[in-house]
Amino acid sequence: MESPSAPAHRGSIPWQGLLLAASLLTLWSLPTTAQLTIESVPPNAAEGKDVLLRVHNLPGFLGGYVWFKGQSVDSDLQIASYVIDAQEIHPGPAYSQGATIYPNGSLLLKKATLKDTGNYTLLAIKGNFQGEIVTGQLRVYQPVGKPSIRASNATVTEHKDTVVLTCLTNEHGDLYPNQNLLLTDRMKLSRDNSTLTIDPVRREDAGGYQCEVFNPVSSSKSDPFRLNLHHLHSGGNTDFLRGWAVVVK
Ligand SMILES: *[C@@H]1O[C@H](CO)[C@@H](O)[C@H](O)[C@H]1NC(C)=O
Ligand SMILES: *[C@@H]1O[C@H](CO)[C@@H](O)[C@H](O)[C@H]1NC(C)=O
Ligand SMILES: *[C@@H]1O[C@H](CO)[C@@H](O)[C@H](O)[C@H]1NC(C)=O
Ligand SMILES: *[C@@H]1O[C@H](CO)[C@@H](O)[C@H](O)[C@H]1NC(C)=O
Repeated sequence: MESPSAPAHRGSIPWQGLLLAASLLTLWSLPTTAQLTIESVPPNAAEGKDVLLRVHNLPGFLGGYVWFKGQSVDSDLQIASYVIDAQEIHPGPAYSQGATIYPNGSLLLKKATLKDTGNYTLLAIKGNFQGEIVTGQLRVYQPVGKPSIRASNATVTEHKDTVVLTCLTNEHGDLYPNQNLLLTDRMKLSRDNSTLTIDPVRREDAGGYQCEVFNPVSSSKSDPFRLNLHHLHSGGNTDFLRGWAVVVK
């Protein structure tokens, strides 16, 4: 007796069949037991660059794939379906320009935008109309903006004046003193680390200060700020830039 899911039927699924299977699977909503996984390549996508959602450990005898935006199989959020044998892509309501599904199920998003951040769900449909589902997350980052340093005064008098230096950035991240900034008992960082108060200023404080912002895809440095002391002509060292690192998550 011949099994109804004999390999001869593999690949004979028309794309309408995939969509039907997808709609039925919303009712089944089977959690996957296999280690089907999605990997973002590169792991942190940069705005304007291509990103591939790679699929690993696919089951055998597949008829096609359907990719969805979000965490579930929702036909309104279908990006596209792909019929393996016919090598045909059928865009869905959530299709965005430049999305491609490869024969191995991986989804390529060309020139990623911030709006592409989110969850992606793959439905892999087998020849017997059973399916496997996996969800993965994608985060698209914008290159960070350039920070700057604000100073209460660029030229101060040793042993007398106080100077307040602030790292200004529009990025939301954690600020840390960088390794060149050795805090002495004359220095105080604000609670969020953004403002350094030196009271009183001494000649070893003269020189360069900088603030550098990092996120997973880029970094940007402020122009160096030079702190000068009155009556001090040796200048201070501006190759040695004390200051801040701002880490954007
Ligand atoms: C799937 O195919 C694409 C395009 O050829 C390739 O870049 C990707 O690495 C493949 N995915 C896997 C898991 O091998
Ligand atoms: C993606 O899924 C995770 C885990 O379920 C959830 O915490 C997160 O909020 C989702 N992200 C978006 C952008 O919907
Ligand atoms: C900067 O410091 C100099 C020298 O100590 C002082 O004369 C001047 O008033 C200060 N300027 C400001 C804006 O605080
Ligand atoms: C400020 O910097 C210190 C020392 O590097 C660090 O341990 C702390 O977490 C930072 N605080 C904030 C609010 O980021």
